[in-house]
Amino acid sequence: MSNKDDIRRYKDGERLHHWIVAITFILLAMSGLALFHPSLYWLTNLFGGGQWTRILHPFIGLVMFVSVMVLMVRFWRHNLVNRDDLRWIRYLPDALHKREGRLPPVGRYNAGQKIIYWSTVIGMFLLLFSGLIMWQPYFAPVFPIGLVRFAILVHAFSAILLMMVIILHIYAAIWVKGSLQAMVKGTVSRTWAKKHHPLWYREVTQEERK
Ligand code: HEM
Repeated sequence: MSNKDDIRRYKDGERLHHWIVAITFILLAMSGLALFHPSLYWLTNLFGGGQWTRILHPFIGLVMFVSVMVLMVRFWRHNLVNRDDLRWIRYLPDALHKREGRLPPVGRYNAGQKIIYWSTVIGMFLLLFSGLIMWQPYFAPVFPIGLVRFAILVHAFSAILLMMVIILHIYAAIWVKGSLQAMVKGTVSRTWAKKHHPLWYREVTQEERK
């Protein structure tokens, strides 16, 4: 339940956009895994069979690439790395043991969120370039077979990296209580903001006083 005293963290458009990215990501992970190993081929039933899975996967990939990039443009300013982020990483083991006192005060996003953000950007570019090179029948025939084989390897590795990164993102969203509310309702409690993002909380309250 959100409280009327809660503060706004995301606009409606930002949340809608985030969930479009999340849904395309899940569709891509399932269709990609279906094509990756025979034991997961049953997942093709969700997309209308093997041929449809093969046809749809790269097109959904293009939709995800464009929407992730636009999402990244919305948030890049808040994910720039600073000195305090390095200190935050050093004291992370303390925070994991519920001793958050030694962590430097965090702004809108902490260093962990920034690492997830930049790994997603890198993963998305690797997936796009490798995916285009291996895309039959449109682009693959243009490239030497050695490069296409290398692209297939890069595609599989970057997909696994991205899935691990997003699993971590979802785990953190559930583990840090009160975060999911930010992406479901767009608001967070004042206690959450003060505890996890005190510098951002200060900025918001200064704005409120104006
Ligand atoms: C079901 C899957 C997902 C869940 C449950 C989830 C949950 C969340 C939550 C709770 C936040 C707010 C965190 C905060 O404000 O501190 C958030 C922010 C964000 N999420 Fe997700 N997310 C999911 C999938 C994705 C995917 C697939 C991507 C990108 C490929 C993504 C990219 C982002 C970005 C860029 C932000 C803004 C934070 C930042 O810039 O670091 N999310 N997500």
